[in-house]
Amino acid sequence: MKPLVVVTRNIPQAALRLLRDHFRLDHHDRPTPLPRRDLLRRLRRAEGLLCLLSERVDAELFDAAPRLRMVATFSAGLDHIDLPEAERRGILVSHTPGVLAETCADYTWALLLAGARRVVEGDRLVRAGRFRGWDPLLLLGADVHGKTLGLVGFGRIGQAVARRAAGFRMTVLYCSPHPAPRAVERRLGAVRVPLAELLRRSDFVTLHAALSPETRYLIDARRLALMKRTAFLINGARGPIVDERALLRALRRKRLAGAALDVYETEPRLTPGLRGLPNVVLSPHLASASLETRAAMGRLAADSLVEYLIFGRRPGNAVHARPHSS
Ligand code: DGY
Repeated sequence: MKPLVVVTRNIPQAALRLLRDHFRLDHHDRPTPLPRRDLLRRLRRAEGLLCLLSERVDAELFDAAPRLRMVATFSAGLDHIDLPEAERRGILVSHTPGVLAETCADYTWALLLAGARRVVEGDRLVRAGRFRGWDPLLLLGADVHGKTLGLVGFGRIGQAVARRAAGFRMTVLYCSPHPAPRAVERRLGAVRVPLAELLRRSDFVTLHAALSPETRYLIDARRLALMKRTAFLINGARGPIVDERALLRALRRKRLAGAALDVYETEPRLTPGLRGLPNVVLSPHLASASLETRAAMGRLAADSLVEYLIFGRRPGNAVHARPHSS
């Protein structure tokens, strides 16, 4: 009999076709998450799980799934998975890095430009019928070209963002626990500096670190206070990297010019007050949301399940119990 795989959400069709060729599927074909209890019940006989970043994959889940051999997450991020626990139980975990880096980098720039040039405010104004014609003082934003970009995290996505900065003739700073190879620094014109220096010097700070105990609240009130009053913070990584209440206070007091957020501390809930601020762009976790990339993520997740559960081969995107860089 074909192995049983639980799929927790509606995902691109190509991935489902591939999965159906090899597995029996228990598919929650909905746009909303499976209630926890249902998920645990469905996993009783499953050998594979294709999940999203909204599912907590931990000891309780593994206890409910005695036959589980592999978890393939439809995400690059792994912060929702207890990797040491999976490893201890001999359950393989795979994720979908690489295929989304360029798309996430594109979106980081969309957020950055939207924040700096007040695109969303402009859209609202026009829709509200308040556009009265060209006005020399209407919605003045900040120039992007020639400014300093600070990247916190310099994995695949951070580097792809840096590459795009050349077109804007920007100075590029990055901070990361490990230096990038010299050749990469040279090619991207990127200089590694400590976080405090990056925050002091940058006009745009973009976050690309994985969420881990070390990066939780990495950007707190003290660090926000180091940033220029004219600077913007862009978070397309994970919400809890930023202390959202501290950010809210900083934005209210104009300690910062603005922010653009694709992720939230207690996603999908927003910190009360954030919604009412004009100087923040709010986006519903869309960084990897292009047709091509979501299809590629689905294929990669499905392929890894087939590789391991059908052919017994460890896929290249399987992970060990250690944090990754995005
Ligand atoms: C991921 O894959 O971790 C991203 O957050 C999805 O856009």
